[in-house]
Amino acid sequence: MSSEPRPPAAWASHAAGLDGSWHIEPVTLHIRAATEDDLPAILGIYNEVIANTTAVYSERPVSLDDRRAWFDGRVHAGYPVLVAVSAASAAATRGDASAETAVVGFASFGDFRTWPGYRYTVEHSVHVAADRRGAGIGRALISALLPLAVALGKHVMIAGVDADNAASIHLHERLGFERVAHLRQVGRKFDRWLDLVFLQRYLD
Ligand SMILES: CC(C)(COP(=O)(O)OP(=O)(O)OC[C@H]1O[C@@H](n2cnc3c(N)ncnc32)[C@H](O)[C@@H]1OP(=O)(O)O)[C@@H](O)C(=O)NCCC(=O)NCCS
Repeated sequence: MSSEPRPPAAWASHAAGLDGSWHIEPVTLHIRAATEDDLPAILGIYNEVIANTTAVYSERPVSLDDRRAWFDGRVHAGYPVLVAVSAASAAATRGDASAETAVVGFASFGDFRTWPGYRYTVEHSVHVAADRRGAGIGRALISALLPLAVALGKHVMIAGVDADNAASIHLHERLGFERVAHLRQVGRKFDRWLDLVFLQRYLD
């Protein structure tokens, strides 16, 4: 947790600006702050990523309690957890919240490292449901996170991405992240060594 904790709602006024819609065909997306009710959907997306990709360096599925502890930790630290929710276009245009159909992705950031000198740097994560990738949802989620980090006075945002994750590296570079480090064989999963790439973006 940051040594200079801010109130949990410190980014909320900026999050209010997320109320609009991201028009990504063929559905309209809403990006909003996650609630505890979203945790089962977040869990499903996360465990699919663990099972089938090297985006998370773990082979063990996590429990709902694990996600709840993660969510509570982020909220307690004053950090955002966002979800992208698909909505039927017509209803979304009317601003009808009941039009929400499914959580299709989530994103968050937290402390990069816990020592006080790192307090202006955050590391984010983003995951999109397997059947919804490549439709701009990851881009929309990271784009929504950036102003929230700015609002919290952060200076740098870091992405730690598996070196084979071409989609994520491409996406981050398109959003202004610069590749700054390549750590060789620091991870292991699926019986092979994994390289980790760090990308960073200045926020101010
Ligand atoms: C990585 C991930 C978050 C990206 O989200 P997404 O919604 O699929 O991505 P978007 O559609 O917003 O954008 C993807 C960009 O990468 C490109 N892309 C997609 N697949 C690609 C690939 N295999 N190689 C290179 N670029 C690729 C797209 O063309 C797009 O670029 P463009 O805007 O220049 O056209 C998502 O695929 C995902 O959740 N993957 C599994 C978990 C994961 O890797 N999480 C990130 C950990 S760092």
